[in-house]
Amino acid sequence: MTTAPPAPPGLLGDTPERNYGRKLQLFNAFAEPELRALIDGLGLRSGQQALDAGCGVGSTTLWLAERVAPGGMALGIDLATAHTRIARAAGGAAVVLQADIARPPLRPGSFDLVWCVNTINHLREPLGAARTLAGLLRPGGRLALGQSHLLPEMVFAWDARLERVATEANRAYYRDKYGLREADTTAIRALVGLLRGAGLRQVRPQTVVVERVAPLAPADEAYLVEALFRGYWGDHLRPYLDPDDWAALAALCDPASATFCLRRPDFHYIQTFTLVTGTL
Ligand SMILES: C[S@@+](CC[C@H](N)C(=O)[O-])C[C@H]1O[C@@H](n2cnc3c(N)ncnc32)[C@H](O)[C@@H]1O
Repeated sequence: MTTAPPAPPGLLGDTPERNYGRKLQLFNAFAEPELRALIDGLGLRSGQQALDAGCGVGSTTLWLAERVAPGGMALGIDLATAHTRIARAAGGAAVVLQADIARPPLRPGSFDLVWCVNTINHLREPLGAARTLAGLLRPGGRLALGQSHLLPEMVFAWDARLERVATEANRAYYRDKYGLREADTTAIRALVGLLRGAGLRQVRPQTVVVERVAPLAPADEAYLVEALFRGYWGDHLRPYLDPDDWAALAALCDPASATFCLRRPDFHYIQTFTLVTGTL
């Protein structure tokens, strides 16, 4: 008997063994007010069925479950063993399944809403995945595709150049890491095209601004320090930056430094989050 070879990693390196659950927890805690407001705006009703495709650690699956209770169901599916384990451990009313959203083991035509955030850009064939997700909708059901950062973020209000070189260095690092071209990572800007290509109508985009100033709430500070400064702008950027820029960036991002940016009175952070919905 032969076993099927494992599927190749996704465009951004996703496999069942991958675990970046902590980063996902930080992002969802940080952007919870804005994400919940977007979910509230979808007009879900009790008794409905919602799918969180690429649910990560399941924060949004729980928020969707609240909106369809009583009598409804929110199902989260994700490829990663560790992410689904964290999502199940969170408890609550959501159901969590480990599966590939490009080949979901689900009955077509069974969901009122498919929510898919910061995930379709991880797939090698996003249009095929969007079509597959659209196929899971009931007539009149909606597919909601969400992505952070379709517009550039503002981190250092006082130094646009340093922020730009750090962002570019991070992009170059990820392109090298996963063997990507720039077009591979920017194709996701075409969310509207994905929904239209999946045959959906009433395609409606909505971009919200996630904006924070000092003093920051603990969830905001944790996201910026752990996910952005240590995660995206950590030591791996050193070879991609001029030494003076690296030193300036490291000092601004280090909580132990006298110039730590989150203690500056002029700290002002902006990022965008875009949700595009389409109806079957
Ligand atoms: C950036 S995370 C976003 C997670 C979650 N939607 C959120 O907003 O926090 C992308 C997620 O997609 C999952 N993923 C990647 N490729 C997948 C696939 N083919 N099928 C199911 N999940 C996948 C990853 O394991 C990860 O949890």
